[in-house]
Amino acid sequence: MTFSRADLPEGFVFGTATSAYQIEGHRFGGAGPTHWDSFAATPGNVVRAEDGATACDHYHRWEEDLDLVRDANFDAYRFSTSWARVMPDGRTVNPEGLDFYDRLVDGMLERGIKPALTLYHWELPSDLSDRGGWTNADMPGWFGDFAEVVARRIGDRVWSVAPINEMWCVAWLSHFLGEHAPGLRDVRAAARAVHHVLASHGRAVEALRGAGVANVGAVCNFEDSRPADASAGAAEAAARYHAIYNLLFLQPLTGGGYPDLVLEGIGAHLPRGWEGDMKAIAAPLDWFGVNYYTRRNIAPNDGPWPHLHDVPGRLERTAMGWEIWPQGLKATLELVAGHVDVPIYVTENGMAAPDEVHRGEVRDPARIDFLNRHVDCARAAMDAGVDLRGYFVWSLLDNYEWALGYEKRFGLVHVDFESLERTPKTSWHAMRDALRRTP
Ligand code: FCB
Repeated sequence: MTFSRADLPEGFVFGTATSAYQIEGHRFGGAGPTHWDSFAATPGNVVRAEDGATACDHYHRWEEDLDLVRDANFDAYRFSTSWARVMPDGRTVNPEGLDFYDRLVDGMLERGIKPALTLYHWELPSDLSDRGGWTNADMPGWFGDFAEVVARRIGDRVWSVAPINEMWCVAWLSHFLGEHAPGLRDVRAAARAVHHVLASHGRAVEALRGAGVANVGAVCNFEDSRPADASAGAAEAAARYHAIYNLLFLQPLTGGGYPDLVLEGIGAHLPRGWEGDMKAIAAPLDWFGVNYYTRRNIAPNDGPWPHLHDVPGRLERTAMGWEIWPQGLKATLELVAGHVDVPIYVTENGMAAPDEVHRGEVRDPARIDFLNRHVDCARAAMDAGVDLRGYFVWSLLDNYEWALGYEKRFGLVHVDFESLERTPKTSWHAMRDALRRTP
């Protein structure tokens, strides 16, 4: 790495991240079925119809995996609780599920790792999705109950909590663009999902505070959206994209309400009485998390609202086809710093590459370069005044990359999905050296 721990302020937190459904293996430990299982079983939704039944078998190999976090000298580990493991039908507690997270949190503490908890990283219990999932106005109540159950069991030992990972993906990607479970393409469903996801966040924050949990934040995803050319139409389309992608959740969470450019499209479809929820949605937070991967070049089109599409850019791309644009991380951190007055963390950043094991080694120089360039830009944002307190690499392990199945490898550690063997990549070794603590 071109940086080391010493280049960052004392106390800056380096971490790595995963999520429950992507690594645990959902056929184990009494977890209930989720909408990702049924989405994946529907032909055409997921590459090779792969699902999270086995994933990385982290449910059985968590000790080895936490050793990998510790041995790379990370300070924190961002993980998530599966709602369907804790409450298989979304409402009834599975003690085995809670026991698992209890062991996991203790395992982190024994290794000197800060547990950074996300309550929901996308595996909705099927019973709730059969009731309309995020489009159902009862979701905030159910989610608040789930938050409370988790808080009462492990809330005393976690370092931080965020209720919902990437609300844009939960609501928009899944109900408007149809790319993630439940795979809807319906503006009315999307509007309701947007609002119920935000209201659920608010309800969870209340439940967490009520249970005495400290350090509660939110994690949103951002892209640096730019006009694809110099035309006025492209500038307008990019502004709409920016409002939908970057402001739709950030603004309500920080008391600014829904952006006008989004209300244009969804205002008529929001659930009745939505205005009454906005105060709880903007409840004060202790920190704000930024997930950042790429930029988008936006052009207008004649299609239905929001009348836009993204145009492939000319920068180097990752295996996801995402342009590598570290400068966008600085711009994003500055954008967020303009809305929040709490510490900011980069809660996800990383890249997929077609990594392979050769003679026991996995060489991934492109990932090392990617991480170096993004940490540089994060430092530049700090120099420009952003109160950035930490940086988490996505991901510890190669894992289930949702609709793209197991093919897109984001890990610092390679996983052989046949033998489930873990092989630290050169990026893992480089992080370990960069993060070594000098005595
Ligand atoms: C983010 C998700 C994470 C992973 C990365 C690549 O949007 O939070 O689960 O899929 O992208």
